[in-house]
Amino acid sequence: MSTPPAELPFYVRPMQLADVPAVMAIEHTAFSLPWPEGAYRHEITKNELAHYYVLCFRSPSAPQQARVSSWWRRLRDSLRPEAAAPREVLLGYGGFWMMVDEAHISTIAVRQDVRGRGLGEFLLLGLLDEARRLGAQTATLEVRVSNTVARALYTKYGFRETGRRVAYYHDNNEDAIIMTTPVFTVGNYWPMIEAHRTALLARLRQQLKEGWQVE
Ligand SMILES: CC(C)(COP(=O)(O)OP(=O)(O)OC[C@H]1O[C@@H](n2cnc3c(N)ncnc32)[C@H](O)[C@@H]1OP(=O)(O)O)[C@@H](O)C(=O)NCCC(=O)NCCS
Repeated sequence: MSTPPAELPFYVRPMQLADVPAVMAIEHTAFSLPWPEGAYRHEITKNELAHYYVLCFRSPSAPQQARVSSWWRRLRDSLRPEAAAPREVLLGYGGFWMMVDEAHISTIAVRQDVRGRGLGEFLLLGLLDEARRLGAQTATLEVRVSNTVARALYTKYGFRETGRRVAYYHDNNEDAIIMTTPVFTVGNYWPMIEAHRTALLARLRQQLKEGWQVE
């Protein structure tokens, strides 16, 4: 996995079975047609084409406490080891299927109360990094016509409309737009991704400096 700067408490790691309950809690608030829990279990244990990840936040306070070298704090932490244990909070998830050299992004979601802060971008970057590392040349996905937020995110990351599936979503017969990236390694696509990454990391740092508290 690509490693974010050490001072940032956000990271993307592979999804594990133990993550599924927290994933489902977000799934039910994020989608009108949520996947059943068994679908995620199947994806991460049985589907060899599937690659699923979670976006996590690690409380920065715990490791800093451990670094403070006051004798009483070390004594207290040794008596209460749970006080020093870093706390991991799952804030989002996403995944893709590797179809030969194309990564088909099957889902992506961020916890509702932390949206609009750049974490959807952070997660999408994590997926694109992993897709590229695993040999994908392009990424593609389907998105509801009405999902303007997700469409704006994908457009920012170079996805363009390449097709449409009529009445794809059976809850309201809405069309899906198929959006696809250019070939990762051609032209200025990946330099554009790196420019977004640089700007995003600066934004996340700034938000934290300004006192953004993630619970
Ligand atoms: C789509 C989703 C993952 C985006 O995550 P997010 O953390 O809110 O997005 P970010 O804060 O990283 O924003 C990234 C970009 O998305 C777009 N965006 C975010 N919020 C937006 C809003 N309220 N209106 C319009 N565009 C928006 C912008 O292009 C933004 O870039 P900018 O900050 O430079 O303008 C999130 O909204 C979500 O989980 N939605 C529900 C599930 C879903 O619809 N998934 C997509 C299925 S195809």
